[in-house]
Amino acid sequence: MEWNAPSEALVLIDQTKLPSELEYLECRDVDTVVDAIQRLVVRGAPALGAVGGYGVAVAMLQGQREGWSADRLESEVLRVRDARPTAVNLAWGADRVRPFMAQGVAAVLTESDAIMVEDEAANRELSRLGADWILANVTHRPVRVLTHCNTGFLATTAWGTALGIVRELHDRGEVEVVYADETRPLLQGSRLTAWELDREGIPYFVQADGAAASTIMRGLVDVAIIGADRIARNGDTANKIGSVGVALACADADIPFVVAAPSSTVDLETVSGESIHIELRAGEEVTSLAGVRTAPDGARGFNPAFDVTPHRLISAIVSEQAVVEPDGSDVSALVQQ
Ligand code: MRU
Repeated sequence: MEWNAPSEALVLIDQTKLPSELEYLECRDVDTVVDAIQRLVVRGAPALGAVGGYGVAVAMLQGQREGWSADRLESEVLRVRDARPTAVNLAWGADRVRPFMAQGVAAVLTESDAIMVEDEAANRELSRLGADWILANVTHRPVRVLTHCNTGFLATTAWGTALGIVRELHDRGEVEVVYADETRPLLQGSRLTAWELDREGIPYFVQADGAAASTIMRGLVDVAIIGADRIARNGDTANKIGSVGVALACADADIPFVVAAPSSTVDLETVSGESIHIELRAGEEVTSLAGVRTAPDGARGFNPAFDVTPHRLISAIVSEQAVVEPDGSDVSALVQQ
């Protein structure tokens, strides 16, 4: 993702087209930004944080071109901020730059650039901390990792969170193989994580989501590492649907289940996972595959995009600030105070 100054546009890799095509989308108006967020052209909690910032700049520039009132601008900024509900980073990013609106677009862009720089630094630091924790808590070498969804550079501003830890472990020569869950219904694992692992030269398998529990319980995995969309005060964690099943299998197999996220994903105002708003997406995403209907015409799809893993199933949560082994008490150490 980058800001293109000459065309005053937010430029995004169109993740819906990967891995077959590497295409870019230029966003110069709020409708395009909101549509890109909702169609998952751009996705992943930390990436959405940066889009929240730049989306405010897009709204201001469109408002200047079209002569919007202050009320209209405010409502368009809120459309960006609230375009998807579960990842706290989107609202966090928009809210972080909103106080700069009075100083003009340049100030909003400077703050958005700062979100990008800080996110990459956070990803790299949490990757070091996470790799250290895993090597101290896993005996098998090299390590066999399972991951779910996509948490690499596509999902962030650079480097990655859970996949960032995998990259760090790989750089240290400590990765045997990664089992990447395909992540139905939108295939972030097989389309995006596999694409990133391929580029990094990290050995991997793509497996059906339904294979994850068995792969773990057969002893083929040493640690599961996932990202997060929102981490509540007590450590309960919302992430891509299917994550809690992976956590249950890890608990049964007695292997660590690790959550990795920058501190911008920690929402201390949300007391527990029960209050996290889980996005319910269109049922057609489940009753079809790559646009082709796979269920009978009358079948209705149930399509929660995320689930909540309770803190008791999480071995460690890693941010750039700390590694917390959650016990139900406050995880504020993950956030700089
Ligand atoms: O619906 P998505 O693709 O935005 O869901 C993304 C996830 O669940 C990721 O695991 C999470 O945002 C962390 S990305 C570093």
